[in-house]
Amino acid sequence: MKLIVLGFGNVGQGFVELLLEKKHEINRNFGLRLDVVAVVDSKGYALFERGLNLSELLYAKRRYGTVAKHEKWGSDELDAIEIIEDFDADILVDMTPTNIIDGEPGMSYLKSAFSTNKHVVSTNKGPFALDYKGLITEARQKELNLKISGTVGGATPMIDFAKKCIIANNILGIEGILNGTTNHILTKMHIEGQRFEDALVDAQKMGIAEADPSYDIEGIDAACKLTILANSIMNRYVTIHDVETRGIGDITPAQIIDAKNRGMAIKLICAIGEKISVKPMEVPLNSPLCVHGTLNVIKYSTELAGDFFLIGAGAGGKETATAVLRDIIDIAYKIGEAKA
Ligand SMILES: NC(=O)c1ccc[n+]([C@@H]2O[C@H](COP(=O)([O-])OP(=O)(O)OC[C@H]3O[C@@H](n4cnc5c(N)ncnc54)[C@H](OP(=O)(O)O)[C@@H]3O)[C@@H](O)[C@H]2O)c1
Repeated sequence: MKLIVLGFGNVGQGFVELLLEKKHEINRNFGLRLDVVAVVDSKGYALFERGLNLSELLYAKRRYGTVAKHEKWGSDELDAIEIIEDFDADILVDMTPTNIIDGEPGMSYLKSAFSTNKHVVSTNKGPFALDYKGLITEARQKELNLKISGTVGGATPMIDFAKKCIIANNILGIEGILNGTTNHILTKMHIEGQRFEDALVDAQKMGIAEADPSYDIEGIDAACKLTILANSIMNRYVTIHDVETRGIGDITPAQIIDAKNRGMAIKLICAIGEKISVKPMEVPLNSPLCVHGTLNVIKYSTELAGDFFLIGAGAGGKETATAVLRDIIDIAYKIGEAKA
């Protein structure tokens, strides 16, 4: 299958590294060959219809800051939309930055992919936080697959778990921690007594913070994820503007210590019940919801089988890349390109 890769930052490079490492396993286990025919970053692209050399691409990006500087295949003459519309590929993989003002550039990329009959895998939350219903409807009308596992839970399969594994259990409510950066910051403050600012720098160095860290701190990233869950799992046709959102910017070390002394931890809790909200709340230290570091957790409360908890890596380029690969393999099965 041919892939067009949009965005070559933490997740994009993590994905390409994963393809390099797992090439033979993917072929052996699924009978699948994945060729990246184009990679686009903010300064240009590299394009080769027979499949780019991925090691060379990583080298060019790390050495020159852009794939456009790749000696043979790099250029900045076309824009990404021209590449999507003019070149043959099976799947468009969008790993460009999340933008909740107008969803761009991802929104236009997805629409171009649909108009040229390409399936889509995305980790970019912006378009779905603004118009989940419109995008999923368009994909369905064109009989295209749209998979967005990496938008929620990083590597942890929160969407597919709910949609595939507990599909008959009737989910009544959701509670969880969906932002790795704020959980890392709150954990550093709780366990090591670190200052907020230092813990944020640490998260940025780890490549888990959003390009604009206020998205994490103010709860916007978590609200995007909650919007996606509300739509995809609970059939609530909402946008990010329907989520009551409060971040962790005003949490003080004194509040953290006070909670700790009472056997509690302050966490940025996402919840879907009657209301949809993201806000800092105290959680008992022995609760399954009290996960630390970059871990994410989700509790699905169901009508027929009680509560299910899912805990796992919620952020990180390579971790999120595993969700992208999972989605691609899933699509390959659906369209008959992969074998069991
Ligand atoms: N990092 C995580 O742990 C994580 C987890 C889950 C989901 N996500 C989501 O995944 C997406 C990527 O995250 P990231 O951490 O990889 O971000 P990132 O490191 O900032 O990378 C973004 C990439 O997009 C490129 N880009 C920017 N504008 C573009 C445009 N107009 N057209 C094409 N490419 C463009 C950037 O180019 P340059 O390299 O030239 O700047 C960069 O390569 C985001 O939407 C994020 O919310 C991230």
